[in-house]
Parts: sequence; structure tokens; C-alpha cells
Amino acid sequence: MRIDIFTLFPEMFRGPFDSSIVKRATDQGIADIRIHNIRDYSHDKHHSADDYSYGGGAGMVMKPEPVFEAMETIRSQSSEMAGKKTSTILLTPQGRLFCQPVAATLKDYDWLLLICGHYEGVDERIREHLVDDEISIGDYVLTGGELAAMVVVDAVVRLLPGALGSPESLLNESHTGGLLEYPQYTRPEIFRGWAVPDVLLSGNHAEIAKWRLQQSLKRTAERRPELMDGKREE
Ligand code: ADE
Repeated sequence: MRIDIFTLFPEMFRGPFDSSIVKRATDQGIADIRIHNIRDYSHDKHHSADDYSYGGGAGMVMKPEPVFEAMETIRSQSSEMAGKKTSTILLTPQGRLFCQPVAATLKDYDWLLLICGHYEGVDERIREHLVDDEISIGDYVLTGGELAAMVVVDAVVRLLPGALGSPESLLNESHTGGLLEYPQYTRPEIFRGWAVPDVLLSGNHAEIAKWRLQQSLKRTAERRPELMDGKREE
């Protein structure tokens, strides 16, 4: 998967993309992530990327020209991606809410172009004429779309074939089946007097599966009852 990120703060991406699963995925060629500084496409002497809001009011608005130019330059330099399944996404608190099913849909794209919104907003023409999707990672306002882009990239890249050491770990994790994950234990069997549940040591796989499903249902009902709609114990 190719991912291009358009941002005013390219340096923010260094740490998160240089470690863990995302780093392994890029090292292995599973994901090709490229960061672009929107300011490089602004031609006034201060390389400005924002301006006052027409109609007045507090706060600056991200200008359309550098964002369009950055996007059009990268698209025109990427003829190998022509005809591939592509989505151009603006990260903004006004977008649709990101969740596991959205990540699962995005993993099937060949090319994601992510625009990190900033300041108090972006010129509406970016929304109307440049992007085909808008995503929010939650009902709160960040200083910009950068952290949101990192969240989206992390959640999508780990779903790409070969990204995880053991792909089975995707099967039972929280949200994949619409439920939270069951409790997990590792050695020692007794830690400070707290014992691992007997059933997990029993070797009875059917009983273990049953216990895990019960625990998932219980935990989901207690913590995230809204996820329970339509769920029942099989
Ligand atoms: N930019 C600022 N806040 C955001 C959010 N919650 N999600 C996505 N992008 C954002």
C-alpha cells in the first residue's frame, strides 16, 4: 500500500513511523509511506499556508493553493498508481468517526492520500473539490490532523497482509468481531497470590473457547453496552 501524507508538520511523523509494526511494514515493502510538507508548495516569501477567514472571526484558515498544488504534483509524479484504488482523505473533527470497520475498509485501497487539516479550519474548496472522504478519530479537537493521520495509518497498516508477525492475532482482538477481547494471562501461574483461571490451564479447548466468549460478552456488556446490539451468546 502506498500512503502519502500532506502536512505542515512533517517532523511529527518521525518517531511513530520509525518504530514497531509500521517501521517493519515499511522496511519489508508492505507499506510505502511518504510525508510531504505543504509549505514546500507555497510560493510567497514566507511560504505561508494559512490566511484570515473571509467574513471575519478568530482563527486562520488553511489556504487552498498549496494543498491543491502539493496533491496535484504528487499525483502527476505517480503515474504507476494510475487506475489503482485510491482515496483522498481529510483528517478533521468534522469527518465520519474512525473505527475498526473503517480501518478494515481502508486496508483494501492501494493508495491513500491523507491531508492533515490545521489551524482553525481548511478552505471549504479543499473539502469540496480535492477530497473524497473526511475522517475524525474521535469527538474532541486536536491541534491538527497529524496525530489522527498517525492513528489511521497505524490501524490500517497492521491489517495489511504480512504486517503482523502472527496474523492470527487479528482474529480475536477487541473490535474485530464487534466485541471487546477476553482477559489474557501469561506466566507465572500464580502472581502475588492471584491465580490464573483454572479453565485456561485445563487444556480443554472447547471449554477455553466457551469461557473466552462468555468473558468477551460480559466485558463488552459492562464497558461498552452500545456494542452489544444484535449480539448474543452462540
Ligand atoms: N483534527 C483535529 N481534531 C481531529 C480529530 N478529532 N480527528 C481528526 N482530525 C482532527
